Amino acid sequence: MSSAPTIFDVLRETHREVEELFGDVQSAIHTEQYELAEALFQLLSVKLIAAMRAEHAVVYPRFARDAKLGAETEQALLEHDGIERMIDWIRVGGLPQDEWCEAVAKLGTLVADHADCEECTLFPLASLELSSDQLHEIGLDFVQRMMQTTPVAGASITYEPTPAEPPPPVSVTFKPRHAA
Ligand SMILES: [Fe+2]
Repeated sequence: MSSAPTIFDVLRETHREVEELFGDVQSAIHTEQYELAEALFQLLSVKLIAAMRAEHAVVYPRFARDAKLGAETEQALLEHDGIERMIDWIRVGGLPQDEWCEAVAKLGTLVADHADCEECTLFPLASLELSSDQLHEIGLDFVQRMMQTTPVAGASITYEPTPAEPPPPVSVTFKPRHAA
């Protein structure tokens, strides 16, 4: 069990994979391969949504309950919501090319800030409360959940009508935690 990855290991790895995909999309944009950029964006968004849903299902509830990180996971869920709405906006917004590229760059910033908050704030706090066995168990649950997730092929992940305006910016910082 101890050689198995912890939830921190698997989430860090997922963050790096998503970062690489963002890099691939940006490279395609910079070389004006827009069809390739869109195809890569679809891959990226499917991976991102699957990871966020797996976090909703098996990670955040454990962090909230067992590590008493209710406020922090609520903030993380708000950030996921902002990311999902930006993905919707990019997928179904019918954006002209320059606005599409700009929206992808904004999404990249939201996702990078969220990953930083998880790695620099949420993980250290969770590690204070959760045992090594619990961290391995949550890691395994996350991996299994990711494998079960069916890729979303539709245009919108929330099945709402085409958004009328871009999603509002979402704050991506955790509230400072005061000692009890
Ligand atoms: Fe997350």
